[in-house]
Amino acid sequence: MTKIILDCDPGHDDAFAIMMAVAAPEIEVAAVTTSAGNQTPDKTLNNALRMLTLLRQTNIPVAGGNQKPLLQDLMIAESVHGSTGLDGTELPEPGFAPQKQTAVELIAQTLRESEEKVTLVVTGPMTNAALFLSVYPDLKEKIEQIVFMGGAKGFGNWSPAAEFNIAVDPEAAKIVVDSGIPLVMAGLNVTHQAQILKEDIEAIRTIGNPVAVAMAELLDFYGLYYGQEKWGFKGIPVHDPVTITWLLHPEYFTTLKKNVDIELNGKLTRGETVVDQWNLTDKPENTTILMDIDREKFVETIKTSLHAFD
Ligand code: BDR
Ligand code: CA
Repeated sequence: MTKIILDCDPGHDDAFAIMMAVAAPEIEVAAVTTSAGNQTPDKTLNNALRMLTLLRQTNIPVAGGNQKPLLQDLMIAESVHGSTGLDGTELPEPGFAPQKQTAVELIAQTLRESEEKVTLVVTGPMTNAALFLSVYPDLKEKIEQIVFMGGAKGFGNWSPAAEFNIAVDPEAAKIVVDSGIPLVMAGLNVTHQAQILKEDIEAIRTIGNPVAVAMAELLDFYGLYYGQEKWGFKGIPVHDPVTITWLLHPEYFTTLKKNVDIELNGKLTRGETVVDQWNLTDKPENTTILMDIDREKFVETIKTSLHAFD
């Protein structure tokens, strides 16, 4: 059993990560925390509550995170996720309230109360993770690993060099990669292979339970952005659930172990995840980088997860 805290900014693909995590018998979701990213922090928190209500998981503690990135102003991805952050379907109103604590406090409490180490899964900007590490360094040893969706080896999607989650809060990402905690990076190299095709969306819809139907509708909307010709994708890259798929099925992936650092100053490259491919520095190999995924098995794993809600 892998115990996780899921820090996310739902977000269509975050919604898939939440769904797969709660569906998996091998994963215990100890807490869900939300960050400002795909939408404003009030909306991402509300979306996490609405998703967990749809999934009938109203007993999982949820807390909202920081209002903005550590240093720069918040950038949101309304062009991808719409004005609610989860446009495309009608989700139920939240059936429960968030914790009174902040995300950072909930992460700390969850770790303190856990007998075993916990995996932190981050599928949004790393603001909460970085604040947590700064405020509670004594609890760092309770984190088994940080598995994050973010970055890429060699390119970006928000700027030519930077992926969205890192671009939103590069200083936070820098604190996380320098933390010494083992890292797993699900960056664009792998998530651009984790594509859901049109026929997969129809197969998901056909599963027919209310969760599957809602997820298919979310994909219909999300596909409007990723279906644009400029991307040249056959399907829709569904980034965030690659983290959960890694926890469930590492055998579906190829990986590289390298140093990853964050560019903070480059005029063209701020927010780049710089990978030391040839070990040219003496920096530690701090990150397992996911490089390739078996796409068909990825889609099968999503479908299996959805059957948990039959
Ligand atoms: C990442 O950015 C967000 O829009 C998605 O939810 C994902 O976490 C992909 O770059
Ligand atoms: Ca996300």
